[in-house]
Amino acid sequence: MKIAYASRMGHVEGIIKRLGITDALKIVDGTEKIDGEYVIFTYSDGKGIIPKIVETFLQSNPGVRAVVGSGSMERHADTFNFAAVKISEAYDVPLIAKVDMDGTDEDISTIKAELTKLGVSFD
Ligand SMILES: Cc1cc2nc3c(=O)[nH]c(=O)nc-3n(C[C@H](O)[C@H](O)[C@H](O)COP(=O)(O)O)c2cc1C
Repeated sequence: MKIAYASRMGHVEGIIKRLGITDALKIVDGTEKIDGEYVIFTYSDGKGIIPKIVETFLQSNPGVRAVVGSGSMERHADTFNFAAVKISEAYDVPLIAKVDMDGTDEDISTIKAELTKLGVSFD
């Protein structure tokens, strides 16, 4: 199981780093390719939309198996993590976690446990 992520301001990237994942694919413009199954990590964009680059990436890489979201409860409570929720619904995959910004240590532990169940290995 691979990991792909999009991060505009660094929160999602911080989550990936704290998980200790060093071989994740960073989505920069959406044209990246990933073989096989993967978990996608994404932020939410304006009014809870899926970032365009993430939408493009998902459409051309059919192996998505789960999603992790990062949003802002303080600034976007009404659409908190809606991008991750929408991906979960549209692609019928589990939503592992809805993280606030770069998350708590507890969030990191939860995500690690769920990724382990999906076959992601941590050194
Ligand atoms: C223009 C804009 C719109 C946003 N809209 C939402 C939103 O609808 N829901 C939400 O939960 N977070 C929203 N956010 C917050 C980001 O998703 C959140 O800060 C996230 O941690 C950013 O991840 P990144 O630092 O990896 O880019 C928005 C941020 C920006 C700049």
